[in-house]
Amino acid sequence: MKRWIRRTALGAAVLLGLAAVAAWAGTWYADRKAQRRIDLPPYPLAAKNDPAAIERGHYLYASRGCADCHGDNAGGRVVIDDAKTGFFVRGADISPGGAHVVAAYSPADWERSIRHGVRPDGRPLLVMPSEDYNRLTDDDVAALMAYLQQLPPAAGEPALVRMPILVKLLYAAGVIQDAAEKIDHLRAPSQPVPEDVSVAHGSYVANMCLGCHGSQLSGGKIPGAPPDWPAAANLTPGDGSALTRYADAPQFALMMRSGRRPDGSAVSPVMPFASLARMNDTDLAALYLYLKTVPPRPAGGR
Ligand code: HEC
Ligand code: HEC
Repeated sequence: MKRWIRRTALGAAVLLGLAAVAAWAGTWYADRKAQRRIDLPPYPLAAKNDPAAIERGHYLYASRGCADCHGDNAGGRVVIDDAKTGFFVRGADISPGGAHVVAAYSPADWERSIRHGVRPDGRPLLVMPSEDYNRLTDDDVAALMAYLQQLPPAAGEPALVRMPILVKLLYAAGVIQDAAEKIDHLRAPSQPVPEDVSVAHGSYVANMCLGCHGSQLSGGKIPGAPPDWPAAANLTPGDGSALTRYADAPQFALMMRSGRRPDGSAVSPVMPFASLARMNDTDLAALYLYLKTVPPRPAGGR
């Protein structure tokens, strides 16, 4: 009996020791992965600064999620502050001036950050969902840049990303990927389609939903999200589809702007309603049209 207890105690100690070594190795590897260099040739983005580009940039900044993480003044914002797990994310101050991270950005640097999730020095961005922005056209990236560069400097702070150990281990293991890992960097940029209520334009707008709702739009648990976030909804017409609640485009647009379903219940604020509410009628109607045409998939297939 005594020997049995001793053996179990020894076994538990060995296991604990192994777990500690694995945790240490995993954390070390996660830090190394975050410091890796991704070598991308500079993209010849044609810069713009005409009033139409600045206005388009303002619209994209407000409606595509940038303002949610970087603030209306681009001074940066706390996005996740989870006391339970210690998960903390603050988006960078990306307004012009001072020591801000974009102060010395060239057009190619803007393109690399926004479309590829890669910093000017080649290291990956960790949290920013550039996979949602990889399909932005050249004109739209140039518009974002034009808008941001003419803002007054904000008094914000640099980005801060503190991951709990479990998230680090999942990142090290590749279960959670940074945007640069998910993006096909060799894929040619999208070509512009007319901005109207069409399936093609809806598909263009829907690119910003992929990071949360999955590349096939069928939803499920969002990888790397805090544990209390609900699974993203199935946006395809398949089993468990959320679209069945919306009989027409105006009903859908109302939910996207109010955060409430037709029955009055609230959709989780994980959906970035502060940004989505600022989408114009054309984008929302085109989105609805497009979502009705995607192949049906059961919920959770991502
Ligand atoms: C979900 C939050 C989130 C969204 C949405 C988001 N960002 Fe970011 N962004 C961040 C965080 C966090 C960082 C700091 C780097 C990182 O991801 O670890 C960052 C960094 C940046 C940087 C600086 C990169 C560097 O050199 O360090 C730029 C430029 C930027 N974002 C632009 C944008 C633009 C433009 C949009 C919208 C098209 C956008 N971001 C949307 C969270 C976000
Ligand atoms: C930051 C992550 C995130 C982004 C970005 C996002 N969603 Fe969601 N969405 C969610 C989550 C999580 C839910 C589930 C909410 C719940 O269960 O209350 C959801 C739910 C929904 C629903 C179901 C509403 C209902 O009736 O329950 C629809 C429709 C939807 N999203 C559409 C979109 C569209 C379209 C886009 C892109 C324009 C988008 N979402 C972008 C996270 C996101």
